[in-house]
Amino acid sequence: MYPHLFSEINIQGLNLKNRLTMAPLYLGYAGEGGTVSPMLLEHYRLMARSGVALVVVENATVDHPAGSGSNRTLRADTDDNLEGLKTLAAAIHQEGALACLQLNHAGRFAHAGGQPLAPSAVQTFNYMPKALEIKEIEGIIGCFAKAAARAKAAGFDMVELHGGTGYLLASFVSPHTNRRNDAYGGDATRRQRFGLEVVAQVKAAIGGMPVGYRLLADEWLPEGLHLEESRPFARSLEKAGIAYISVMGGTYESFSLPLIVERSKQEGYMLDLAAAIRAEVKVPVIAAGRLATGAFVEKALAEGKADLIGLARVLWSDPQWPQKVRDGREEEIVHCDPGCGDACTQMVMKGRPALCVRWPAEKMKAWKEKYR
Ligand SMILES: Cc1cc2nc3c(=O)[nH]c(=O)nc-3n(C[C@H](O)[C@H](O)[C@H](O)COP(=O)(O)O)c2cc1C
Repeated sequence: MYPHLFSEINIQGLNLKNRLTMAPLYLGYAGEGGTVSPMLLEHYRLMARSGVALVVVENATVDHPAGSGSNRTLRADTDDNLEGLKTLAAAIHQEGALACLQLNHAGRFAHAGGQPLAPSAVQTFNYMPKALEIKEIEGIIGCFAKAAARAKAAGFDMVELHGGTGYLLASFVSPHTNRRNDAYGGDATRRQRFGLEVVAQVKAAIGGMPVGYRLLADEWLPEGLHLEESRPFARSLEKAGIAYISVMGGTYESFSLPLIVERSKQEGYMLDLAAAIRAEVKVPVIAAGRLATGAFVEKALAEGKADLIGLARVLWSDPQWPQKVRDGREEEIVHCDPGCGDACTQMVMKGRPALCVRWPAEKMKAWKEKYR
């Protein structure tokens, strides 16, 4: 029915059975301390069983606590979590999907302890992050490389570097948050340097294993990063050997702006950004953002706006989305509700594991009884 959506694609030697991926989605399911909990495992089993070709596991910290979003951020910074990560990768494989681990340093949005770190001391909401010294930057690059090696040892097929949402990688590229005037800031080329050094060291640490990049294509802030700079950055990433680019827009500073709140309710609200980046590069591009119906995503692929589809809340609200689309049962899909006020985000911001308000009552009851 949807020939593009259900065709295979090869990414640096890995065969993906279709164009569907799970986009990374932090839901607060890891145990306190960032461990692989029973809840996290059950969640990823369901996501992998859905029929997507690739599951990109939510952001895992490369440096705890300085780089962790919260105390429930999955930890990839310590061998203490290696067995858990092995179990997680194996569970995803058992359910028939490839497994990718997203690696992150939360930078100025790290809230697990200590003063948040950033390229420059630029006020973020009501706090001031500390500007990183060169030695600290080099240390963090090393942390990314070590975490990637750990992901490989755990059995993941790929890693993805989180260059979105205003976290550390993105904040170096942005002219809004990077006001340095040294090797890591100043003009656009020097602002790209941190990201490219992370890519180089990660690749060196894991040999031929594919490395993807979540790219912030537009910060949606007047003084922020826009396509004019993210396009050339995408070309630099391609030259550096990135296996795919997963495109997103916005940071915590823009997500709550009234215009962006409205935009984010639309089907395919980041597809224009994916298409703009895809026009620049030959590596596969993943689009995400309320890609909610088979016809819409098939058209996006057919028109060359993206090579792969990233489903985050779309898949979480209905893990049978891929099967229902494939079998022509789309009227049965339980859609993520743009009118719910981003209940999942609100729950995780409060430090609670998120449960989707759209889940059927029996599932909601069962998960509450088991995990809350
Ligand atoms: C609660 C929540 C957590 C998220 N966690 C991550 C994450 O860990 N890493 C990431 O790159 N994107 C993250 N995202 C962004 C999603 O990957 C995705 O781009 C976005 O939700 C749009 O896709 P969707 O409409 O299918 O949810 C998150 C989004 C939400 C709402």
